[in-house]
Amino acid sequence: MSATTFTPSQLATQHRSDGLTAAIDRDPAAFRILSGDRPTGALHVGHYFGSLQNRVRLQDAGAELFVLIADYQAMTDRAVQPDLPDIVTGLIADYLAIGIDPDRSVIFAHSQVAPLNQLLLPFLSLVSVAEISRNPTVKDEAAAAGLAAMSGLMFTYPVHQAADILSCHANLVPVGVDQLPHLEIARTIARRFNDRYSPGAAYFPEPAALLSSAPLLLGLDGQKMSKSRHNTIPLRATADETARLLRRARTDSERSVCYDPDRRPEVASLLLLTALCRASTPEAIAAQIGDGGAARLKAAAIEAVNDQFAPVRARRAQLAADPGYLRAVLAAGNERATAIAEDTLRAVRALMHQRY
Ligand code: TRP
Repeated sequence: MSATTFTPSQLATQHRSDGLTAAIDRDPAAFRILSGDRPTGALHVGHYFGSLQNRVRLQDAGAELFVLIADYQAMTDRAVQPDLPDIVTGLIADYLAIGIDPDRSVIFAHSQVAPLNQLLLPFLSLVSVAEISRNPTVKDEAAAAGLAAMSGLMFTYPVHQAADILSCHANLVPVGVDQLPHLEIARTIARRFNDRYSPGAAYFPEPAALLSSAPLLLGLDGQKMSKSRHNTIPLRATADETARLLRRARTDSERSVCYDPDRRPEVASLLLLTALCRASTPEAIAAQIGDGGAARLKAAAIEAVNDQFAPVRARRAQLAADPGYLRAVLAAGNERATAIAEDTLRAVRALMHQRY
């Protein structure tokens, strides 16, 4: 989000994130990770290289991974979504196909976890309207929606996000920079709850943000790659669809291909995508293409994406053929998240003297 400016404490978060990587490598089992996606469409290659790949890496290293389908949060920008059930099972197929393992990790939808949602009320008492109003990401989204369209849910969703995170005592939240203000609210809520209701021994951990180090891929139109802009390459796209999408990607008319993100952002993004799929560097890919122009660059990108995702797509097709299994995975995840959030809610009520 370009208009976003960060406070010194948010910049400090970025700093902490660097040290965290070493701590995770040393003792992955000490981390409970919560990461989440809004169910607004199919996951795409930008998600994969920006965050999904890292989730699987952390899971495989031995961290506890919780994956949240943020269906209430999706309502902040689309109130009625009749295809939500299909989007949700599609998301689960995407998660499993890229390697999230339902035996080790918990996939859940926050609308289905009642005690998580009950935490919203005590948490609302711990922040002021002025603090939420100052949150730059809320400000950006409110501006985009127009003031008249700003619902109470949209205004308070960072507090609800704190409930997502704290209900399962997650201590690590992998995010992009636009999410740092929300993480700051979750940390503030944890700290204030501890100070007010549990002064002897902190009850909630202060969750740390793990900033993604992955470079940003642009969408096919040169704008930010995003489900709502219809400019993505979905993970589930077939090889032919991928070719069709990439052939119409925006480039420029210079024949010589070089990696220059400032001057030639669209070409640079295709080079980066190809390099990520080939475990290479954009400079090396550019050197291979040389004077081949946009057509050769696109051919290289198409082949690289199709090679990289062929196994994921094959697994995904198998999974999608069994929606009953996908729903069972979600039901088991919802149950586990509910059991954990129930324990949290019980403890919170006790600390708040609401035990009668
Ligand atoms: N706000 C996140 C997004 O828009 C989604 C999200 C909701 C989330 N709750 C979360 C992310 C908790 C991490 C932790 O992408």
